[in-house]
Amino acid sequence: MEITFLIILSLIGLMIGYLIIKPIVLLLLLKLQLGDKAILMFNPISGILGVLMQSIKTNNDVMHTIYQALIKNPKAQVILSNYLATPCIILTGSEYLKDTFRDHYDFEKIDPFMVPQFAQRGLLMIEGEGWKRQRAFLGSAFTFEKLKSRLPMINKVVNCITEQDDKKNLTDFMARITGEVVIKSFFGELAEGFQLEGKDAQVALTQLTGEMQIFKLESLYYFLKSLIFREKMWEVFPSKQEKDIIKRVTNVRIKVKELILKRIEQLRENPIQNQDSMVFLDIYVTEYLKQQQQQQTQKEQLIEIEEILHQFITLFFVGTDTTATTSGTCLYYLAKYPEIQSEILQEVQDVIGDNEINESNLNKLLKINALIQEVLRLRNPVLFTVFRKVKHDKQVQDIKLKKGWVVVQMKNSSSIKDSHFDNAIEFNYKRWLKKGNLIKNDNGFIHIPFAAGQRNCIGQHMAMMEARIIIALIVRKYKILLNPAVKQVRFGIKLLQCIEPDNCLLFEKRI
Ligand code: HEM
Ligand SMILES: *[C@@H]1O[C@H](CO)[C@@H](O)[C@H](O)[C@H]1NC(C)=O
Ligand SMILES: *[C@@H]1O[C@H](CO)[C@@H](O)[C@H](O)[C@H]1NC(C)=O
Ligand SMILES: *[C@@H]1O[C@H](CO)[C@@H](O)[C@H](O)[C@H]1NC(C)=O
Repeated sequence: MEITFLIILSLIGLMIGYLIIKPIVLLLLLKLQLGDKAILMFNPISGILGVLMQSIKTNNDVMHTIYQALIKNPKAQVILSNYLATPCIILTGSEYLKDTFRDHYDFEKIDPFMVPQFAQRGLLMIEGEGWKRQRAFLGSAFTFEKLKSRLPMINKVVNCITEQDDKKNLTDFMARITGEVVIKSFFGELAEGFQLEGKDAQVALTQLTGEMQIFKLESLYYFLKSLIFREKMWEVFPSKQEKDIIKRVTNVRIKVKELILKRIEQLRENPIQNQDSMVFLDIYVTEYLKQQQQQQTQKEQLIEIEEILHQFITLFFVGTDTTATTSGTCLYYLAKYPEIQSEILQEVQDVIGDNEINESNLNKLLKINALIQEVLRLRNPVLFTVFRKVKHDKQVQDIKLKKGWVVVQMKNSSSIKDSHFDNAIEFNYKRWLKKGNLIKNDNGFIHIPFAAGQRNCIGQHMAMMEARIIIALIVRKYKILLNPAVKQVRFGIKLLQCIEPDNCLLFEKRI
């Protein structure tokens, strides 16, 4: 009896030691060393993710807690927190960011999906030589020169969906547009009528990728399970909901693979001649077929169908919600500040009139461009980069990072500092229209909405292009208003920082 009791007691002791004492001692030592350069935010077990969730609950703003802490401690450059029992170091000072973005090979991304065979082999997650090859291979397809052949498609998608959608759910409305643009950019005409789960493919995919993230944050049980078992969590006493997600993932894989195989057959018969208008799938398949003929390519250079599949899921995942949220937040500011809306509308009428947006007038939409930059400065949907694990002990400035620790790059703390922007916390899109040095004391890592260094966002031209077209075409047709029925608008987080609730805007047709 007593022995059992003692065993249980010491197990509890060990657990407390492992989960609480160990990380807190490491963090305290760092805090002692860094002084007021660091803020301590230890939170037993749920760690930094728990801090963010709590901040939404109490303040309607995912970043409120961190933001207040940074304002109270203007000297702070790092936040010391935890990820289960591991120290989690959030870097916000631009010198720390500079080092970690530059030495990206010393860090390894932690899979945010943790779903087997999903996107691990796509560009966002792949590491090492595989990453180098993919980045070089896809890089040329993401230049403005190559992307401009998509302009007519993007115009059409924005117009069609704006016409069809009831526009009562901003998140849904925007993601239908950006999701369809990614699908058409990847599959081209093959995507006509592409359905999953009996819905338009982009709707089904957005729901699936969204659910995969959210269900872990909504229930403590799933949350801990994902922290402890990682990608194995789906095999440990799977609940009905987890089984359902895995089943849907399998179904998506089958459907997408069918399309890829179909395209391989088509291009085997009729190779594409015009390189400039190739969609992503065609670029891949053309290379795939070339390699099949040569048969001497080194193994790690070989493209496999599985990689094409993961790449589609990756681009859909990183290209849809990011651009949707950015565009939606821009529309919100237009509703909030009607005078800005008039200025933007005027620009659209002057530059494009009743025409389509094409390669020559797109770059003349300077005010829209400035508006997007300002939203990316203050309300960048991507608050953090993907969490990373330190691959081996590494010195970053004055911090000795240990192998296995978690590092988060928080990109926007410089955005609100008067030392970098005049009246930094004021929303003023016109700051981006001035000539000359727009950012004070810029080390190149101050305004980096698309991250920085070699592993920055490969889709940034595509995102900017899309967001400009979405804003221009919608504002030309609709007056955007705040929904008076919504008493309080907040910045929450689904996976990204986004404006909530979904019905905060009304669209009134201009005559
Ligand atoms: C406003 C919209 C967007 C924002 C704010 C954004 C932001 C970012 C950021 C911050 C990263 C770095 C992530 C990390 O290192 O953990 C990233 C990476 C990436 N983005 Fe975007 N992105 C946007 C749109 C897009 C679009 C439209 C695409 C393509 C369809 C795209 C494709 C990618 C890819 C493939 C990566 C991984 C690159 C690599 O690791 O080499 N993004 N993005
Ligand atoms: C683009 O549209 C403008 C009208 O806004 C038109 O004058 C111009 O010729 C078009 N350019 C191209 C390359 O189609
Ligand atoms: C970063 O984004 C948060 C999220 O809303 C915002 O509150 C803050 O102004 C931005 N700056 C910080 C704290 O880095
Ligand atoms: C808007 O759509 C999203 C995604 O489909 C959904 O989760 C949310 O509940 C909807 N919001 C409203 C207010 O209907």
